[in-house]
Amino acid sequence: MLDVRNLTVQFAGLTAVNDLSFSVRRGEIFTIMGPNGAGKTTAFNAIGGFTRPRTGTVTFNGQTLTGLPPDKIAGLGVRRTFQTNGILREMTVLENVLTGLELNTPSTLLGVITGMPASARAEREATARARETLREMDISDLADRMAGDLSFGQQRMVEIARAIAAGASLIMLDEPAVGLSPSERGHLGDELRKLAAQGITVLMVEHVQDLVMAVSDQVLVMNYGKKIAQSTPQEVRQNKEVLEAYLGYA
Ligand SMILES: Nc1ncnc2c1ncn2[C@@H]1O[C@H](COP(=O)(O)OP(=O)(O)OP(=O)(O)O)[C@@H](O)[C@H]1O
Ligand SMILES: [Mg+2]
Repeated sequence: MLDVRNLTVQFAGLTAVNDLSFSVRRGEIFTIMGPNGAGKTTAFNAIGGFTRPRTGTVTFNGQTLTGLPPDKIAGLGVRRTFQTNGILREMTVLENVLTGLELNTPSTLLGVITGMPASARAEREATARARETLREMDISDLADRMAGDLSFGQQRMVEIARAIAAGASLIMLDEPAVGLSPSERGHLGDELRKLAAQGITVLMVEHVQDLVMAVSDQVLVMNYGKKIAQSTPQEVRQNKEVLEAYLGYA
């Protein structure tokens, strides 16, 4: 469903992403690994429309994304979380998830937050959808908590819930396990597998080995902007070039 072809991104002489190609199937968990500075986040930015690639194309369900602005790409169902978290700390969890629905129904969010009945029915539907998503992700009990008071792991779940409620069919996660405890990582992995089983595609950048190994269908390894390997997690961890890339970095 996602096809990245010959993607190259340059910053003033530095080739951050160098002729990167890969395809992700529907319902797959596809992980990009690589040392710091390998170009992983830059590749994400180019796919999401935040950075303009020098060359290459990205298509999603046959539609060309290259050249579209981020909000258009998000509107097509490609949604991401950021490496530093994008939670609204002063809002409740439910309100955070409702902000994801803003793109689809602008008046709804305003109505819910300001209490003005722009359209009471749309409001109820949005709230019901947000609550349903929280339930699916096993975080219903957090609905009325202040997002800023939650643990990193809980906040990460809220970010994912927001993307799902907004209608993501491809969710892009940049280092989702950062700052999470082992049990929170386990929960994250379980939820990602559940989403994939429902046909939601997961594209993530992640270093944390236990999570990568447990959930990924495919692992792509980048080094200096280039793809150096792509296969199943079991095969990738034995790949000589991959081991060298990490040893060279350490
Ligand atoms: N906006 C920018 N302007 C100039 N150089 C940039 C910019 N963004 C990234 N870079 C450079 O591009 C290269 C790739 O960076 P990128 O953030 O994509 O790496 P990464 O693989 O995500 O690394 P990390 O694991 O540290 O998150 C790095 O050398 C970085 O310094
Ligand atoms: Mg990064």
